Amino acid sequence: MTSKHQDIEVSYSVSNDFFKLWLDKNMHYTSASYLTGDEDLVQAQEQKAAILHDYGEITPDSLVLDIGCGWGSFLEYIVTRRGVKEAHGVTLSTQQLAWIHDKHLPQIKTWLQDFNTWEPDWLYDAIVSIEMVDHICSPAQARQGKAVSLYRDYFRRAHKLLKPGGVFACQAILSDRVPRNRKDLEDLAFTADIIFPGGRNPRLEELIMAVRPYFEIEELRTQRASYRRTTKLWWDGLKAHQAQIRETFGDQLYEDYDRYLGTCVRCFDQHWSSDVQLKLRRCDI
Ligand SMILES: C[S@@+](CC[C@H](N)C(=O)[O-])C[C@H]1O[C@@H](n2cnc3c(N)ncnc32)[C@H](O)[C@@H]1O
Repeated sequence: MTSKHQDIEVSYSVSNDFFKLWLDKNMHYTSASYLTGDEDLVQAQEQKAAILHDYGEITPDSLVLDIGCGWGSFLEYIVTRRGVKEAHGVTLSTQQLAWIHDKHLPQIKTWLQDFNTWEPDWLYDAIVSIEMVDHICSPAQARQGKAVSLYRDYFRRAHKLLKPGGVFACQAILSDRVPRNRKDLEDLAFTADIIFPGGRNPRLEELIMAVRPYFEIEELRTQRASYRRTTKLWWDGLKAHQAQIRETFGDQLYEDYDRYLGTCVRCFDQHWSSDVQLKLRRCDI
């Protein structure tokens, strides 16, 4: 199946106070979208949310689902900035859910819920999912040749939850190339095994195959340089709080995240990884 609940807790429930030190103030834990290069991280994250909002053709009356909603950053953006009256999210992280509940935003409803077994009695006008698909197929499953069928099952589920004609706005981190030297390969394996156990970044070709027959791709936008810049700013933020993190959370956590974020910057620099935003129209034939 997908990353297990305990894997997700390892990746996202370290401590909200820890992530708060180096993510932007709205806690987006995915690539921002730099359009001019002059934006700060908060603005670039809002631009990412705006792109996906517009891809989703979301209006204040849309009922919206965010699959893998993290700390609720996209949900908060659409209800506070775009006037959406009801927005739902699912996550598998207890810490993220507690964070969202503490905001007391009545327009937002969230569940600690595995999307793979989510069968609500209602349909959505729009669905958004921002870098959750990297938890759908494990490295072991990919080696068994199951990647495309698992990604297709994720799109099949999204199709089933969406009203006819609706849009699924999907952002995904991508695997593009494999590095050539041992140190880089070890750093990537460390990131996969220790920071995101059970996760695996899809290839763009796999996603393009997997959306069929459920969705038509209406727009496709890649943003490798934006992710490089986002991860560099996260890494700078982590390093700026080094003493506090070492004291509060321990040396090992600091060193693990220092290695992981440094690896991310190289991933995007060296074209090992990229990021894609897809506007997917539900097929109804
Ligand atoms: C990289 S985070 C992205 C969070 C958020 N979308 C953002 O932009 O900040 C991935 C999210 O997917 C969630 N997730 C992973 N597997 C899931 C599953 N099977 N069901 C529901 N949520 C899942 C995690 O709990 C986490 O919130």
